[in-house]
Amino acid sequence: MAMRRMMTETASAEKEEEEEEEEEEEVRSEVPDSLSGKYTGSFAYLTIKDRLPQILTKAIDTVHRHTDTFFAQHGQEGVEAEKRAIGLMSKLRNELQTDKPALPLTDGLPDVPQWNKYLKQQQARLGSEENASWFKAPWLYMECYMYRRIHEALQLNPPICDFDVFNEAKTQGFLESQQAINAISTHLQEINEKVKGFNETQLKAELLRLLQVALWGNRCDLSISAGVANSQKFNPLTALESLKPFILIDDFEFVWSHLINNKKKKTSETAHTRIDIVLDNSGFELVADLVLADFLITSQLTDEVHFHGKSIPWFVSDTTKKDFDWTLKQMKTSSHPQMSRCAVAWEKNVTKGVWIYQDHPFWTLPHEFCDMSLVANDLYAELQKSNLIFFKGDLNYRKLTGDRKWSYTAPFETVLRGFQPAPLCSLRTLKADVQVGLKPGLGEQLAGSDPDWMTSGHYAIIQFSNPFGK
Ligand code: F6P
Ligand code: MG
Repeated sequence: MAMRRMMTETASAEKEEEEEEEEEEEVRSEVPDSLSGKYTGSFAYLTIKDRLPQILTKAIDTVHRHTDTFFAQHGQEGVEAEKRAIGLMSKLRNELQTDKPALPLTDGLPDVPQWNKYLKQQQARLGSEENASWFKAPWLYMECYMYRRIHEALQLNPPICDFDVFNEAKTQGFLESQQAINAISTHLQEINEKVKGFNETQLKAELLRLLQVALWGNRCDLSISAGVANSQKFNPLTALESLKPFILIDDFEFVWSHLINNKKKKTSETAHTRIDIVLDNSGFELVADLVLADFLITSQLTDEVHFHGKSIPWFVSDTTKKDFDWTLKQMKTSSHPQMSRCAVAWEKNVTKGVWIYQDHPFWTLPHEFCDMSLVANDLYAELQKSNLIFFKGDLNYRKLTGDRKWSYTAPFETVLRGFQPAPLCSLRTLKADVQVGLKPGLGEQLAGSDPDWMTSGHYAIIQFSNPFGK
């Protein structure tokens, strides 16, 4: 009897899952195809063919160069672990270069069931196991999968499982940007002395300035440069005017009205406002984001800033908790007094709970953001508490839009496919061939004059969407 009940329950659970998949399939068929390595010659194809193997080779080399460190820390056991980790990463590179199907993850971390379920769904969608391969499956999925497999290669090999293969490159990026970091720290200190007396026009002008610095900071990512140094060498504040024509969508006016109206609407001392920043790269970009967050607090445009980082090393330069803490520590001990003053104030923000750093496994899953409410309902509910969410960078934009072949003029709201936890704004330089919400004809015009316009990082967008209407 019990056995029969169990079988019936299993059958109905399977049926439910099938129905769910069918429903998902129906919705998917209404949307354009994913960018993929199957489109020979596309940026996705070139990334998988050239850039990803280059990143893997660099990661292998980095682990290899740390043999002495591993030996000093863990003796021979560390060296053996290093060899096994290198073996796994080399195998991964070979799977990629010979277009093998993605394999299930095996390292037992809490996100494994979600990854492996996603793998099965992709296989079902693509018709067979073989089709869920590096060049045939969606690019977004395979690129995320590579970083998760690098993490697995280390996870399976204690005692070196906490080694961040990208740490060196991130450190170098930060150190090479010292001049620019010092310039924006100095600017922030000057602003902070005057901000209390600012009228609305001055507040608006300053917000625009710092938002643009955070925007262009997104050019400094180490994934597009395949791990090769890519830092901010000059004072970004002096370049903002000349960069303005390269902002293809500028919704700053909407962002400003939204923030200033919220500020004015605040009636009692207890009404709390909150801004979230879904972080991207560490190094100069992170510091620019922190400068923006500082200003949002001192100008009282918000009471709290929540930062969302990655829980594992990701897309070479993405910010983890370790990077966040390290950056504050480096700046605090810097010989530049302005940098150090900023970091002291920022540490206080963290201690007082005015700045909150959070991470969630969803940010390192391969899903489009429209799946968040199903896959990570807790995170979606958390974001719903926000008054405004900034999504930094290219990968976040790819996930907002599903990394699909949308037309250039498709409305941002349509493309988000129901992902609207709160008003949101993408601050992104273009480094992948997806862009929506452009004025008719602009995409075609740019394609005619600059074939690399979507992937060079020379263009940018400030793109806003408000579920309650702009
Ligand atoms: O490697 C591809 C890619 O996703 C590009 O689209 C992008 O240049 C980079 O990696 C990540 O960019 P970002 O750091 O801005 O998210
Ligand atoms: Mg990044």
